[in-house]
Amino acid sequence: MIRYLFICLSLLCSAPAFSINPPQDRQKELRNMLKHDCGSCHGLTLKGGLGPPLLASRLVNKTNDYLIATIQNGRKGTAMPPWKSFISVDETRWLVQELLKKPVERTLVH
Ligand code: HEC
Repeated sequence: MIRYLFICLSLLCSAPAFSINPPQDRQKELRNMLKHDCGSCHGLTLKGGLGPPLLASRLVNKTNDYLIATIQNGRKGTAMPPWKSFISVDETRWLVQELLKKPVERTLVH
């Protein structure tokens, strides 16, 4: 009994507080997608094109939920397509964190 409790506790404690980061390989794919797919509209360095710039300085004032919803569902009536059939909510959250935490130029170099 004590042993099971212990296993449960260690599982709980090892679970990250917010989201689970995608595995390393998937992170690479997602960074590639950001560059090539998102970059085709938002610019290769994400400084803007058909779509607005996705620079951290521009996104920092918007909520995570709003950005995640935009990426998952797209924006009706604009060129921004929905991505939910390609990336999960957790992966989208990770992408948004990537966009926000680093200077964009560094995000794109692997
Ligand atoms: C076919 C062109 C196109 C592609 C591809 C595209 N976007 Fe967009 N995106 C747009 C446009 C256009 C808008 C502006 C929509 C509007 O006017 O509200 C936009 C808006 C956004 C916004 C909201 C920005 C803001 O300041 O509110 C985010 C975030 C975003 N895109 C992320 C992405 C990501 C991440 C990808 C790749 C997974 C991607 N987009 C791919 C065209 C595109």
